[in-house]
Amino acid sequence: MGLKEFTRDDPIFVNEAVLRDNYRPEELVERDAELSEYQEALRPVINAAPPKNIFLYGQTGVGKTLATRLVLNQLLSDQENYDDLNIEVVNLNCKSASSSYQVSVDLVNQFRDTTEKIPSTGYASSQVYQMLWNHINDLDATHLLVVLDEIDSIGNDDDILYELPRANDNESVDDTLVGVIGISNDFTFRDNLSARVKDSLCDEEIHFPPYDANQLRNILKQRATNAFRDGVLDGDTIPLCSAFSAQESGSARQALKLLYKAGDLARTRDDSEVGESYVREARDLIEKGKVQDELESLPTQSQLTLFSLLQLESEGKTPCKRSDIYERYQVVADLVSSDIVSDRTIHDRISQLRLKGFIQHDERNDGIHGGSYYLYSLDIRQEIVENALQQSNARVSDLFES
Ligand SMILES: Nc1ncnc2c1ncn2[C@@H]1O[C@H](COP(=O)(O)OP(=O)(O)OP(=O)(O)O)[C@@H](O)[C@H]1O
Ligand SMILES: [Mg+2]
Repeated sequence: MGLKEFTRDDPIFVNEAVLRDNYRPEELVERDAELSEYQEALRPVINAAPPKNIFLYGQTGVGKTLATRLVLNQLLSDQENYDDLNIEVVNLNCKSASSSYQVSVDLVNQFRDTTEKIPSTGYASSQVYQMLWNHINDLDATHLLVVLDEIDSIGNDDDILYELPRANDNESVDDTLVGVIGISNDFTFRDNLSARVKDSLCDEEIHFPPYDANQLRNILKQRATNAFRDGVLDGDTIPLCSAFSAQESGSARQALKLLYKAGDLARTRDDSEVGESYVREARDLIEKGKVQDELESLPTQSQLTLFSLLQLESEGKTPCKRSDIYERYQVVADLVSSDIVSDRTIHDRISQLRLKGFIQHDERNDGIHGGSYYLYSLDIRQEIVENALQQSNARVSDLFES
């Protein structure tokens, strides 16, 4: 049959780019309370006072990055009304930086032309900080807001989050008032910040909760209007995408991806309507792909933890306590001759797996006798975890033979 001709006609989409993750909408739907909290936290800046440091947190896909861009754009444009303000913003995504040192190098490079960038090794960290202070001083701005998105990548090495907020106090930076906006989707990150950092960084904490199904519906509706041709969406499509995503993660990113994939499937099949069945099919495909990718990149101990829970689940022993998972984990780790790590470490692994959406927990209360505790179970379908684990690293896939 050979190749088909590429043609422009598209029965489903008018503009599919609107559904992509990198599309930047001009409006944040269903986030009025958080936006006003955010604007309130930045009010000192417009009043020419020293900025508060802000820590923004919430699970993945709940609008933290988008909100930040919109709020700061508004601030930058409203400062035009005041002659005594010259606010600058530096925006850094820290995803690929694993230490404070790297973040400080990246920040320095934000101020430099391509030809003058510094390498990510070779300087003492005090030198890098000094370069940073020099650049900030040279800005001649009244305020500098430093946005550190996905800051959880730096883990425990949080020195930069101490130095930046104190840049004015210790006179590293004189005339420019520095404020930091840290953004994280890792809840354990905030808890693990050193006390001195918590003190300086968290003047204001803003939480972005997951979206519920109604909110997701409105977010999707707004996007779908520009993305799809009139009448191609079945009445159940958006509600179903919203319900699935609300149930699984509360993430707008996930909901958008699901809707996009469903439309994409309908197009591939030359269908002129995106019905419910495409949403279900899309969900399966996305889940499989996502789990596969993520599982392959998990450390072995996390894979073993997940395998232990999978076993318990297939034996009908879930939801179960953490101690049950740990007990099973010891057996499993022993089977593959892996190191057996502590209960505490497995607890951390479980928290991470939960944040990634592999595991869910339910709080239980035993009244005065037991206090409260959690019961755990898988948060994705068994066969998906099983498939993915079987295809992941050799050690773990061996477990399926034994
Ligand atoms: N309230 C909203 N209205 C419209 N679109 C939204 C809303 N919230 C999120 N989105 C869209 O969902 C996607 C994810 O949002 P965003 O990147 O802001 O999430 P995030 O909280 O920063 O997630 P992560 O922690 O993974 O970085 C983006 O495509 C964004 O445009
Ligand atoms: Mg983000």
